[in-house]
Amino acid sequence: MSAQSQIRRKTVRDIAAAKGGEPLVCLTAYDAPSATVMDPFCDVLLVGDSVGMVVHGLPSTVGVTMEMMILHGQAVMRGSERAFVVVDMPFGSYETNADQAFLNAARLMKETGCQAVKIESGAYAAGQIAHLVERGVPVMGHVGLRPQAINVVGGFKAQGRDNEERERVMAEAKAAADAGAFAIVIEGVAEDLADEITKAVSVPTIGIGASANCDGQILVTQDMLGLFDWTPKFVRRYGDMRGEMAKSVEAYAADVRSRAFPAEAETYKLTKATPKRLSRVAGRKSRG
Ligand code: KIV
Repeated sequence: MSAQSQIRRKTVRDIAAAKGGEPLVCLTAYDAPSATVMDPFCDVLLVGDSVGMVVHGLPSTVGVTMEMMILHGQAVMRGSERAFVVVDMPFGSYETNADQAFLNAARLMKETGCQAVKIESGAYAAGQIAHLVERGVPVMGHVGLRPQAINVVGGFKAQGRDNEERERVMAEAKAAADAGAFAIVIEGVAEDLADEITKAVSVPTIGIGASANCDGQILVTQDMLGLFDWTPKFVRRYGDMRGEMAKSVEAYAADVRSRAFPAEAETYKLTKATPKRLSRVAGRKSRG
């Protein structure tokens, strides 16, 4: 048995067992090399439909397609071996009815190899969640601010600001848990509501802009690495990826323009190899 095959990927049972224990560490992931870096530290890697905004430059997640989720899901599975990988069901892939939800969820699982899917769960989604779970698809719910619904809400607005909204978010969370969701993301709600939901449901809650009262935390990785000029209030920046990238690209541009790059060390030399042999070797090493 190889060393690699001894590494056990986390399962839905590991995630469910974290209720009330050490907080679950979750981040979004969209590509293989980044997943490789995050995998040793994270319990859950979420291939979020936020990929549409932070990678593809879309104004919201509404334009994200199944094909995009599959491509990024496959990459994250290739780059991880330990974390539990969840792939978002994009807008329009599950709302029509339970059959549509199952066909698309099954496609995501078959074509990416992910362990679970996530559904932004308004109350109507409970039927879809139960249908999927009964048929072998673990589902993570998502309540509070639901980015796929921004066109109804009128923007990326915190939820649960009056009693009616609070009751709705609580009802959605309970419906998702009762329908069999193994965990629930709570996005953009005040800490007391996050606390009440976390106490009311028996599955782990994973907060994003929902206080420390949840059973775990998730952030969009590019936000917490500091790739953007602006981030929401709830994001803590752990790096300055934008600044670091700009510095590196500026230095590269200066070196190219001054011919300081490439230098001797970065240049192939013709030694004893015949031109034919050299081109074979160079071709093997090339990524282009
Ligand atoms: O798409 C996403 O990245 C998400 C997280 C914000 C939870 O749903």
